[in-house]
Amino acid sequence: MLHSIMKSSLLFAFVLTATTASAVDFKSQIAPIFRNKCFACHSVTKKVKGKLALDDDKLSEQIGAGKNIIPGEAAKSTMWVNCTLDKDDSDVMPPEGKNRLTDGEVELFKAWINEGASLTGGGAAPAAAPAAAMPAAAGGVLKWTNTEGKTIEAEFMGLEGDNVLLKIPSTGTTHILALSKLSAESQAQAKTAVK
Ligand code: HEC
Repeated sequence: MLHSIMKSSLLFAFVLTATTASAVDFKSQIAPIFRNKCFACHSVTKKVKGKLALDDDKLSEQIGAGKNIIPGEAAKSTMWVNCTLDKDDSDVMPPEGKNRLTDGEVELFKAWINEGASLTGGGAAPAAAPAAAMPAAAGGVLKWTNTEGKTIEAEFMGLEGDNVLLKIPSTGTTHILALSKLSAESQAQAKTAVK
């Protein structure tokens, strides 16, 4: 299954290049989550509960130090934290755990905030994983090969449309890769990894 890797002289040199990883894009990856899961209660086109509008042109008011979205700090960002609460928690969003964010959406939202919560584009490119050999894979870490034959080791975090979310254990960063940039084997691996 991994013949192409075995033949490669890059065996055990796990390189993640800028061509395979891209930062989260607000318009195509985050705005649809708000639209589908939050707008019923947080949009000027419908209702604005809790004085919170998440429309594209209102969202900037929520971003900044001390606000609901703190760039670079998802774990301190109320908006993200509230989406991860237990479904019985009175603060969980959406309320009562209805129409919850999927695990993939939660990871994407987190990555977007941690990359700087840019509304205009892909934000800063995520730091590349070290090119040096990594230690033996821990549980849950799989090998992923792209169409150029480069291989990385990463944890599968979910599928989001045509993208796969992979977490690099050494850096703790989540990367979004287009499935079409992965080898057929890795694409199949992503599809079977979906729980
Ligand atoms: C069914 C309606 C509903 C949906 C859907 C919903 N919310 Fe809310 N949200 C509320 C209500 C009502 C409040 C106000 C709660 C309060 O003040 O106690 C609120 C408050 C909040 C707050 C706190 C605002 C503040 O500054 O105090 C955040 C953050 C939030 N929602 C985020 C979200 C996100 C993100 C989504 C989508 C993933 C979402 N909500 C979906 C009804 C909803």
